[in-house]
Amino acid sequence: MTWLITGGAGYIGAHVARAMSDAGERVLALDDLSAGVPARLPAHIPLFEGSAHDTGLLKQVFAEHAVTGVVHLAARKQVGESVARPAHYYEENVGGLAALLAAVAEAGIERFLFSSSAAVYGNPDVDLITEDTPCAPVNPYGETKLAGEWLVRAAGRAHGISTVCLRYFNVAGAAAPDLADLGVFNIVPMVFDRLTRAEAPRIFGDDYPTPDGTCVRDYIHVADLAEAHLAAARRLGRTDLVQAGDLTVNIGRGEGVSVRELITMIGEVTGDRRPPVVEARRPGDAPRAVASSARAAEELGWTARRGVRDMVESAWRGWQLHHGE
Ligand SMILES: NC(=O)c1ccc[n+]([C@@H]2O[C@H](COP(=O)([O-])OP(=O)(O)OC[C@H]3O[C@@H](n4cnc5c(N)ncnc54)[C@H](O)[C@@H]3O)[C@@H](O)[C@H]2O)c1
Repeated sequence: MTWLITGGAGYIGAHVARAMSDAGERVLALDDLSAGVPARLPAHIPLFEGSAHDTGLLKQVFAEHAVTGVVHLAARKQVGESVARPAHYYEENVGGLAALLAAVAEAGIERFLFSSSAAVYGNPDVDLITEDTPCAPVNPYGETKLAGEWLVRAAGRAHGISTVCLRYFNVAGAAAPDLADLGVFNIVPMVFDRLTRAEAPRIFGDDYPTPDGTCVRDYIHVADLAEAHLAAARRLGRTDLVQAGDLTVNIGRGEGVSVRELITMIGEVTGDRRPPVVEARRPGDAPRAVASSARAAEELGWTARRGVRDMVESAWRGWQLHHGE
């Protein structure tokens, strides 16, 4: 098998590329470097600079490197930006995916793994979200991920491509400091950013129907997430399962951690225990979003191994590396 990883120089993509390569898979990365960092990839993983929607480039890479599977992570991923620029998000995350899938089908590639998100569920009122929980995204980003899943499955059926859609919950941590998330869009880097500016972390709403009143989320270490991709790729690579259709799987730990608990832990790890300030609820935040991880265990033989403290500690080492402290 030779896997092309789109978005391979990104935060999650570089973890996936390294994990798959370390496990003996042949791996190539493609990234337009709009948010990617080439130095995240070791020298032995070739990086093609360009768009995952550039069918000419894809055709060339697929043919010259005998690519047999694609792991598609390249996407726009900021919820707020998706609300402000919905057409751009649909164009990139759905239109671009359509071009990629057409190239995959034309090249006769039979395995496709798609980065989806818990954002496809919206705000379901359930204790544990299973893959059968109805999808009702509440922002254009989540909509593009859901539409992307539909497109991936339809293309799989039409062209005989076996597909896996992985619905990631809240990704955090770093396998090594140089692989850390450089964006300040998720809660862990957002809190680090506040502390670095000597400002109190913010909690948006503490009157939710949860044990401490703050929102509860399911955090997954990016190194565990990378191992889930390897497990999914190996499943797709099994010849007895080729043409086996599609699989959609939650990737989470199945354990809820409240925003207040997480901020307390960040205080312990960083040594900066300034108390958080409570502000108004943000529209669209679900009180609780925790995955059922049963299907991942059953279908992929994968379960998360790393805890939330490991995520915070490793993310903090990465933050310190990139912010010179
Ligand atoms: N980070 C999370 O918490 C999270 C949660 C759920 C799902 N996801 C999904 O995981 C994937 C990766 O996210 P990430 O956090 O690593 O983000 P990231 O921005 O670090 O990585 C995305 C990579 O894709 C590249 N890219 C974007 N558009 C491209 C294009 N058209 N052609 C080629 N490369 C392109 C960027 O340069 C970047 O390197 C995305 O699909 C995202 O929606 C992320």
